[in-house]
Parts: sequence; structure tokens; C-alpha cells
Amino acid sequence: MTGENGRFVSRAAKELRREMLVSPAPELGLVAANGPNDPEPELVIESGVVTRMDGRAAADFDVIDRFVVAHGLDLEIARGAMQLPDETIARMLVDVDVPRADLVRLARGLTPAKLARVAGMLDPVELMFALKKLRARRAPANQAHVTNLKESPALLAADAAEAAARGFAELETTVGVARYAPLNAIALLVGSQTGRPGVMTQCAVEERRNLELAINGLVTYAETLSVYGTEPVFVDGDDTPWSKSFLGAAYASRGVKVRFTSGTGSEALMGCAQGMSMLYLEARCVAVVRAAGSQGVQNGSISCVALVLSLPGGSRAILAENVIAAWLDLEVASGNDAIASHSAIRKTAKLMGQFLPGTDFVTSGYSVMPRHDNTFGGGNYDADDLDEWLTIQRDWQVDGGIEPVAEGEVTRIRAKAARAIQAVFEVLGLPPVTDAEVEAATSGYDSNDMPDRDRATDVEAADDALARKVSGLDVALALDSRGFTDVAEAIVGMQRQRVCADYLQTSAVIDRDGLVRSAVNDPNAYLGPGTGYRLEGERWELLQALPHVVDATRLGTAPDGRVAPLAEAREAARGGDPAEVVIAVGPAFGDEIRETIAGLDHGDVVAAIVDGVRDAGGVPRIVRVRRVADVAFIAHDGAQLSGSGVALGIQSKGTAVIHRADLQPLDNLELFGMSPLYSLESYRAMGRNAAGYALGQRVGPVPTELDNFARTKLIVRTTLLHARETHAVEADAPAVDLELRAAPVS
Ligand code: 5AD
Ligand code: CA
Repeated sequence: MTGENGRFVSRAAKELRREMLVSPAPELGLVAANGPNDPEPELVIESGVVTRMDGRAAADFDVIDRFVVAHGLDLEIARGAMQLPDETIARMLVDVDVPRADLVRLARGLTPAKLARVAGMLDPVELMFALKKLRARRAPANQAHVTNLKESPALLAADAAEAAARGFAELETTVGVARYAPLNAIALLVGSQTGRPGVMTQCAVEERRNLELAINGLVTYAETLSVYGTEPVFVDGDDTPWSKSFLGAAYASRGVKVRFTSGTGSEALMGCAQGMSMLYLEARCVAVVRAAGSQGVQNGSISCVALVLSLPGGSRAILAENVIAAWLDLEVASGNDAIASHSAIRKTAKLMGQFLPGTDFVTSGYSVMPRHDNTFGGGNYDADDLDEWLTIQRDWQVDGGIEPVAEGEVTRIRAKAARAIQAVFEVLGLPPVTDAEVEAATSGYDSNDMPDRDRATDVEAADDALARKVSGLDVALALDSRGFTDVAEAIVGMQRQRVCADYLQTSAVIDRDGLVRSAVNDPNAYLGPGTGYRLEGERWELLQALPHVVDATRLGTAPDGRVAPLAEAREAARGGDPAEVVIAVGPAFGDEIRETIAGLDHGDVVAAIVDGVRDAGGVPRIVRVRRVADVAFIAHDGAQLSGSGVALGIQSKGTAVIHRADLQPLDNLELFGMSPLYSLESYRAMGRNAAGYALGQRVGPVPTELDNFARTKLIVRTTLLHARETHAVEADAPAVDLELRAAPVS
């Protein structure tokens, strides 16, 4: 019987359960790694010619085998490398004393089946460690997605500027409607260079158009060149490894950085996995990318992530494919862009595989705008998740490539970018960007806040811009003519980068000073603790200083010039009135500290307790315990002084205890530990109860509520308030009587 147990019913309704998990079906390619039909690693070389590889004779090689054999494998290295036992190579991947360069060299001689076999032996932590070692560039970075449903140029420019200011090294846009491409590329170019000169941009569209935008200098990188692990799927896209290589060379010859795209799951999704595991097929893809001479790859399942995650070991296989790519000396943009799960818990668990070791681009596109404006099909992490991302970086002392920026600076940069694109559109004779658009793009939430544009006019203008061959230089001249000299210079700077083409080196990004940082001049030479990249120094200072961080030394300080609500009278002596109830306050109460953790004024709190005591027929007397900050002892000391033997002790943060003189200090009559939840009415009820105990009446405990998050929310405030209370302790000082200055609350 199912559907009857309340807890199962509740779990079945959670977001996670919208997703389907399936059992492996290897014949359909639905197996993440270590598939039962994956070939045994094999390489037979006869007279310098490969006659067999991974279970196939040369005569049966498909287009992928042939390409890898012709251009990928280094047979000199392969002779030795393929002899090494799988375990030996697996151990080398996680051995701090084996340098990356040795492993990269070895990989040149390993067949796809061997790569997949060895990577498939590592557990998740071993894979993370291997990835940390094998990453090409020393410091990790990140890429952003910038799109919106209305294809609003002002909003694109503003979002690109903010993304650049937040430290993203690459920005990718695309189009909802293909004809928008040149306008979106221009908006991204202008926005990016406003936010931070040197940020690279791309506009992912059909290759011919893509190349055209590149040649015109409107974009600086491309990662649209998809490859697949079986011949039928590869050829389905009208392509071969040779045609992809040619295209890659075409981009590079025009000074455009290229990385290919692949990722586990695509072959199964397209119905032709030939019974092989996802990881094995991806090893074939990455081998093709290496053989094609690309400097890098975007992998990590990419758009197929949810399919891979439906299978056992899916997250691990995705991490393993990133490792294989890095091992082959490719720059890796490691996925985490497409939505991986409905569940925030599961999504973030998946992310840690790439986030903690760091990759060249931790996400292949972080959605800097709200998810529904992401025309890549939503974003795994989006604008609303930025604070989480920044906090997790701060928690782990890990650089995920995103920087905190204060609201004022963001607003300034967004406004400037929106005005810059407004100027460019006007000078280039494109449909006007209105002041209302500039304003909405500066401070709106998403494209719903943007005024509508005439879309027919926009696409016509876009066609015209392409026909006129509007170039990066034209954009720079337009900006310069309107006084945006710095942005114009940054755009000319990007044209200069294209000409000298240093950024075609593996894993290149351009830093704030216009310097290319790549695997050539800033390699990841990790050899154990203290080496490689560490988040420390200025960068660590920057990534920990989130705008909403509170200064620990200032929180909880009270004195605001107002008169303290309690006046000290004389040293307290034991009272004689059997109706007397002592209200014992802590050392800092109403003095150094003036309000409870719930924000109640100390004067009002004492007045409410006094009221309550009187209500129930007791006689209140206020004392300050100075020798201790622990609420149990404050209350117990008070009880010793009380004529009735009963006291209510209260700490500055508002925690209270009703005590009696004959009880052990750590025992009590009632404890009120949920100080954040108490109102003045609660304190009045505590006063009534205390008097009830004093007068020997029957007393029902004060009803209390529970807030499970109180500790999480308030533990810092509690710590700081308690530190202040403790600081006010005077070890041997006797208790003193107090008088309430404030008027009792009605
Ligand atoms: N394998 C190959 N290509 C992929 N893309 C997305 N996911 C994969 C994958 N797993 C492609 C898109 C687009 C390019 C940017 O990436 O189809 O062509
Ligand atoms: Ca991308």
C-alpha cells in the first residue's frame, strides 16, 4: 500500500519529486559510467600504424576512431602509456607528487576507453582532487549568461556591465529570434566593456552568423562547436570531426577564442548511444576536441545534465568527464549552467564537484538575470542566487569567480552601460533606446519592467546592421563621439587583442590590466598544500567583504545618549516581605545593553514584569546581579535576596528564569529560553507566574512557542550580546538594588 503514510505523502510532494529517476538501461545508453558494453581499452600498433583500438579493427573504425587515430593519439607515448595498469594511472591522478605536465603527456597516449576506464575508477573526492591538480589555468574563473525575453538592448547592456563588474571573465548571450544577433552582440560588447575592460563576449547563434559577428569584431569567443561520441549522432548535425576542425580554425584565424562543446548524455538523448556508457562516449568526444586542436571544451553534460542525473552515479560521471577534459590539457567550462534539478539541495550538491576544486569556468553560464529571462532555457543559478553563491565562496574560502559589488556601484555601472548603448544606437542609426528604457534597465528587476519595443523595426535594423557590416570599430567610434571615451578605448582594446591573439592560448582570460592570463603564462602548477592557487590576500579580502556583512565589533553597542532606565541605589540585602519577588537583571542590562534580542526596550521589559508581579499580588523589587552573566545564577542570586525566596532572573538578551532559593542553581521553576519570541505581554505573564510561586498559588507554565530557526538567525547576535554581558561582569561585586526610571507601560 502506498500513498498513506503521511511522511511519504509529504516527501512525494516536494520539488525534487518532479524529476524522474530511472534504473540503468545500457542498451539505450542509459548508464552513466563503467557500462557493461564499454570496450576494453586496447591499442595495437603494427609498423607504426594503428590496426586496432578499443575493441575495433581499423577496417571497422568509425569517423571518430579515424579522427582520433589520425590527429589525437601520440603513438610514441601510447606504446608505454597503454601498457600501464589502470590502477597505476588512477593513482598518479591523485598523487600530489606527480606533476600535471606528466599526466598531460601521458593522456596523449591513452585511448578513449582507457581514459574513461581510469577516470571511472576514482571516487568523487579523488575526482575533485584530480580536477584541482589538472585544471589548466592557475586561478579559476566564471562565465555568465546575459539574455532577456524582450531582447531589450538597454537591459542586455546593463546586465552585461554588472556581470563584468562582478568579475565574470566571459559573457555569453544568445537570441530568442535569430535576426536579433547583431544587436544583442553589440549590446553585450558595449555593456561588458563598460563594466570591466577585457571581458570576452560571445553571441551563440548558427555558425555562419556566429563567424560573421566574430569577423566584424562584435564578439571575441565562440563555444558553439558541438561534437558527439557516436558517428550517427555526429553526422546527424551535418558534420564530421574534420568539418568541425575546419570551423574551429576559421574562428581562430580571425583571432577568436574557440572552445568546443560536448557532454555526457547527448548520444542517449539523440537515440544513438550504441549501447555505450555516457562517460565512455564523452571520452571519445573530448579526444576529438583534443585532436581538432581546440584549446578547450565546454563539457559537464551541459544541456543534458538532467538526463545524466536520472541515473545512478550521474553526478560522479559528470565530474569525471570534466577531469578527462582537463587531463587532456583542455580549458574546461564545466557546466552548471542548465538547470540540474528542481531541488536546491540536489543542485548545490552537484555543483560542489566543480566549485570546490575550481575549474577554468566553474559555470558555463551563470544567469546574471532572473531565471525566466534566460533564453538558454533558464539558469541553474541566477540573479536571485547571487548572495548564496557569494556566501558559499566565503564559507569555503573558495574562489568561484564572482565578486561582491555594492548596490550603489552596480546602479552606477548599469546606468552608464544603458546610456552608452543608447548613444551607440543613436549614432549608428538603429531604433532609439528611450530614457525610460535606460531608467528601467538601470534599476528594474527583469524584462517585465522594460517598456516594449517595436520588434519588427528592431529586426529590420538588425538585418541592416549586418548588411552594413557594422563593426567593433564602428561601435567604438560611436561611443567616442558621445563622450564614452573609456568604453570606446576598451572596445578598441578588444580589437587589439584579436589582432595579437595571445588569448588563443589555452585557457586564456584577460585581466583588469588588459593582460592575458592563460595556461602558458599562469599555469596551474599544483604540487600539494601551499602550491597552486589559493584564495588569500587581497582577493580573499574582496570575496569575504559582502555588502551586508555586519561589523562584529559594533553590533549590540547600546549607549545612544538616552538616559538609562534603571538607577542604582544601594547594595542589596535580603528582603523580609514574604510577598516579595525579586527581579534580578544581568550586569549589562539597561546599561551597556538597552534592549533584548527581540528589540524590546529594557525599561519596558522591567516595567512589564513589575506589572505582572503586582497583578498577581506580589511585591516587586529590582536588583542587579553583577558577579555573573549566567541567567541561572542571576536568578538564583536574586532568589537568595528575595523575601519570598522567589526571583525572576533576566539577562540582557531577554532570556529569563524563575528560581527559588532552596533549589540548586542549575535547577529552576521555569526557564524562558526563546528570548527572540517574547513580547512585553510574555514578560508580564512571567511576572505573574513568579508572584504566583512566591504566594504559593497553583501556577500553570507560561505558554511558549518554538522557532526552529531562532538559533540560526540569532546565534551571532546572541554571541555578541552575551560577550558584552560577560564583559560587564565584576567578579566580587555584590548585587545592588535598582530603581526603575522609565514610566511603567500601560
Ligand atoms: N553535447 C554536445 N553539445 C551540446 N550542447 C549542449 N549540450 C551538449 C552536449 N551534451 C550544445 C548546444 C549548442 C552548443 C552551445 O552546445 O546544442 O549547440
Ligand atoms: Ca556557455
